[in-house]
Amino acid sequence: MSQLLGVALRGTGSCLPARVVPNDEFTDTLNLDTTDEWIRTRTGIRERRFASLGETSASLGAIAARRALESGGFDAADIDLIVCATATPDLMSPATACLIQAALGCRHIPAFDISAACSGFLYGLSAATQFVRTGAAKNALIVGTEVLSRVLDFTDRNSCILFGDGAGAVVLSASPVPDVGIRNIRLYSDGTRQQLIQVPSMVTPNPAPGASLQPRLEYLRIVGREVFRFAVTRMVELIEQAERDCRELNLPGIDFLIPHQVNGRIIDAALESTQFPREKVVVNLDKYGNTSAASVPIALDEAMRAGRCKPGDTLLLVAFGGGLTWSSAILTL
Ligand SMILES: CC(C)(COP(=O)(O)OP(=O)(O)OC[C@H]1O[C@@H](n2cnc3c(N)ncnc32)[C@H](O)[C@@H]1OP(=O)(O)O)[C@@H](O)C(=O)NCCC(=O)NCCS
Repeated sequence: MSQLLGVALRGTGSCLPARVVPNDEFTDTLNLDTTDEWIRTRTGIRERRFASLGETSASLGAIAARRALESGGFDAADIDLIVCATATPDLMSPATACLIQAALGCRHIPAFDISAACSGFLYGLSAATQFVRTGAAKNALIVGTEVLSRVLDFTDRNSCILFGDGAGAVVLSASPVPDVGIRNIRLYSDGTRQQLIQVPSMVTPNPAPGASLQPRLEYLRIVGREVFRFAVTRMVELIEQAERDCRELNLPGIDFLIPHQVNGRIIDAALESTQFPREKVVVNLDKYGNTSAASVPIALDEAMRAGRCKPGDTLLLVAFGGGLTWSSAILTL
């Protein structure tokens, strides 16, 4: 194999549905036994966005992707791979990545989905990095996109207040410079704890012989308290491991941490435990709630567009969620 290439971040984009859903809507419109105060103090979330009729993971993802292409100065024809991470695909098949490929008007390139819940974007980033590093793709588009509002049980106050819809995207490109871009990615899973967060399939799993496949329209379920503990433990481990990785890579340190936007108290607990400086953390969960696979790329795009993260900065992205899965990436801009 020829020499491995550097994998640089060349563009970011995001798309949030226009419809803003403040916490009060759960009490005023949905008659849920909760309060704005409870949601704000227990989660940090003030509002989230919900998709309107006609908006889907593919449509939001395509807009985010177009913005990522524009920000990097790419045309659709420049892209040779699309990886899409979503837990709420438009269809079980074809992949949402194929729908995005068609919407963008890309060439006949590989396009596939990744299912790793809230870690999906980092799993996608890892898959795309292998293509670019080995020369199999020059420019790869990675999209994290969700319409979680479509799988929420609006009678369950434990779960429905936590999530929102949106999409984020990045372009990774081959680079002759080895010390920019993706420096390190770590991925983990523990399927023995699969029951803690689940989005059911739209078809009955393991139907009895002879039974017809019935549509199964059920809802996202979480065991919040246990997921909370898992998330803090893994986030602490990921930050501490990344600090060791930075030393091994001779990087001066982490300039910004972009964590999965799940609950402000999870982030606070991990920061306290690791003594990671709060001013280096990108948080936008107050505006969007937990957008699962979209949360890290949306926060990354906002930080880039605001000029908060600059060339030369080293970013640590961390995510955790259903699977269970957890993951991190170190990236130098
Ligand atoms: C869900 C979550 C916000 C709950 O916060 P918490 O402080 O752990 O609260 P608990 O689960 O201990 O519940 C405390 C009480 O608040 C109640 N409660 C839960 N949701 C509520 C709501 N929206 N409004 C009011 N009360 C609520 C519970 O019923 C419980 O009441 P009880 O003591 O009478 O049983 C928190 O556990 C969390 O963020 N978990 C991770 C979320 C997740 O799974 N994300 C997806 C994967 S990354």
